[in-house]
Amino acid sequence: MTGEPPTAETVSTLLEDRELVVVSNRQPYSHEYDGNDIAVQRPAGGLTSALDPIVQSAGGTWVAWASGDADDEVTDERGRVGVPPESPAYDLRRVGLSDEQVDGYYYGYSNQVLWPICHVDPAKMNTDPDFWKQYRSANRAFADAVVEETDDESLVWFQDYHLALAPRMVREERDAFCMQFWHIPWPSWDAFQTCPQYEELLDGLLANDLLGFHTHRYCQNFLDCAAMIPDTMVDRATRSVVYDGRRTFVRSFPLGIDADRRRELADSEDATAFWREFRERHDLGETLAVGVERLDYTKGIPERLAALEEFWETRPEWRERFTYVQKASESRSRIPEYRELQAEVEAEIERLNDRFGTDEWTPVVYLNEFLPPEGLAALYREADLAIVSPLRDGMNLVVKEFVASQVDDPGVLVLSELAGANEELGDEAVSVHPRDTPGFADAIERALSLPESERARRVRDLEREVRSNDVYAWMTAQFRTVEAIRRGRDVAARSQQRKRYEQ
Ligand code: G6P
Repeated sequence: MTGEPPTAETVSTLLEDRELVVVSNRQPYSHEYDGNDIAVQRPAGGLTSALDPIVQSAGGTWVAWASGDADDEVTDERGRVGVPPESPAYDLRRVGLSDEQVDGYYYGYSNQVLWPICHVDPAKMNTDPDFWKQYRSANRAFADAVVEETDDESLVWFQDYHLALAPRMVREERDAFCMQFWHIPWPSWDAFQTCPQYEELLDGLLANDLLGFHTHRYCQNFLDCAAMIPDTMVDRATRSVVYDGRRTFVRSFPLGIDADRRRELADSEDATAFWREFRERHDLGETLAVGVERLDYTKGIPERLAALEEFWETRPEWRERFTYVQKASESRSRIPEYRELQAEVEAEIERLNDRFGTDEWTPVVYLNEFLPPEGLAALYREADLAIVSPLRDGMNLVVKEFVASQVDDPGVLVLSELAGANEELGDEAVSVHPRDTPGFADAIERALSLPESERARRVRDLEREVRSNDVYAWMTAQFRTVEAIRRGRDVAARSQQRKRYEQ
């Protein structure tokens, strides 16, 4: 291996001639009606945009929920369509789900049971029994599609918490290598046990050969949970679990971004043009902080607004000088908690702007419209601070996008100690506890008063980390682990054979 950083090609080389089958809830491309025409959309999620170039380079199949209203119009009789539409490089296999399944599996079990439990907010859990029933039936639909698309030589890569049962269902039919990456936190046993179906979930996940999490802590939590169910043997030395005659290796692989692409965008003419127009349109102060998230209660937006209120209240010298820009996107809004959060955030911003705003200055600029990638890049580049203060977050890629976008005047990262990204990047950020309002306000002031040389040093260190652990390094590390596991198994199988022969 050379010292060159991994690329999409490195990943496809590691796959050799094995067929890659990626399985996720969200699809990388959806087809939607636009009047009588059909338009292709690329869902904005980080997961799909990160994996798409790799699957394009490696070829193979991507199995995902057919969420677009015109999806069925363009697929063949097996639900397949070549993508990207302009020059197909792999097959997207769409899984159709009924409205009932979508309600119970996606809005229900995935986002009202697993999401709150893994983010340690069990009070938000809704244990409607139909959710579990639909979760099982949707996982079966995904598994059936995977079985149709694979043989025993395939490499099946499940993504995230929507698909905890599918690996077991696939395993019953196929001897393929199965792996899964869990993109959200894995909680402690005490929190996980609040889920009534904990045993079935672990049974599903332990059908994988490799399970990946963002941090060591989540791996430890998973091993602790696995140790609590019957018939498992947890081997701490090799970080693996033996269950039902198979060994599942548990490893941390911190997810990264395409750092080069982010930097290019931040450095682009389009970003500069966006910024010029943005500045004119809004009454900004000379100093700027930015926050970017889906409207999700785990992101800690109301808690952050409380800290900002405290900041302007106790430090009047920063009024008319310091503006906070909140980019927010609507999310999962059929779930009451999400609708309530959206209303709360909007009302709080209005209240803060009424309380502190003047004719020339808006304290909080709220953006809930679509923002093109160069617009986001411009905000990251121009902001003096990024405030990323989730109450709990698996990793948080906004942190990494902000770091990669610091092409000139270095900005400061204010980061929650409860974000997964804190394990890698916490040392060079200004750490906050999102619920400690006065401490949070102090941290904002501390971040704003760092001298330029110190800001530059921190950005340099953060950048090095973000660039060397980018999305390609993330995938390469996983596929190298797959190779190591396979090699280990081959050696073990050969030595067993030899022993039998010698007997
Ligand atoms: C998290 C999950 C992803 C998910 C994303 C957006 O990051 O880990 O799997 O795609 O949120 O949520 P949504 O429900 O819109 O797919």
